[in-house]
Amino acid sequence: MHLHKYEKVWLVFGLGSLALFLIIIGFAAFWKGTHPQSHIETIDPQNVEANEAFQPENLGLTEVAEGKYVVNMVASAFNYDFGKEEDGSATKTIRVPKGSTVLFQITSKDVVHGFQVAGTNVNMMVEPGHISRFEAVMKNNGEFTVVCNEYCGIGHHLMFGTVEVY
Ligand code: CUA
Repeated sequence: MHLHKYEKVWLVFGLGSLALFLIIIGFAAFWKGTHPQSHIETIDPQNVEANEAFQPENLGLTEVAEGKYVVNMVASAFNYDFGKEEDGSATKTIRVPKGSTVLFQITSKDVVHGFQVAGTNVNMMVEPGHISRFEAVMKNNGEFTVVCNEYCGIGHHLMFGTVEVY
């Protein structure tokens, strides 16, 4: 078989580009251990309560300053633990005033879940062993549905909640 000189040049260029790409991806993934940027802090998924943020009494919504809130949440198959209402019942709703800054801190006890507040820019992957964090300003009034957007098993569709901005 005879290859034209330019065919050889382009073949080498193509294979070289592929090799370079794989080297860069491999370096980032395996040597640097790159994860999504919101997943910097690690946690033991068997013992999330060891982290103060995920102790049962600290779950759910807390106002930390004027107009600033933190939401701590534990995701597990097939539930988001939003903490409790004042009467002790489990809640599925978070209520914040319009214009609030809300820091969501979420972890998973078991498998990969999602946490998306539909209609806002809050959309995270929640991995066991990591703490997912995202701070958002709630600019618009309304009821926004929280959904799990990573298929996590038979009860995936049961994972939902609401963020109400008033
Ligand atoms: Cu949790 Cu899908």
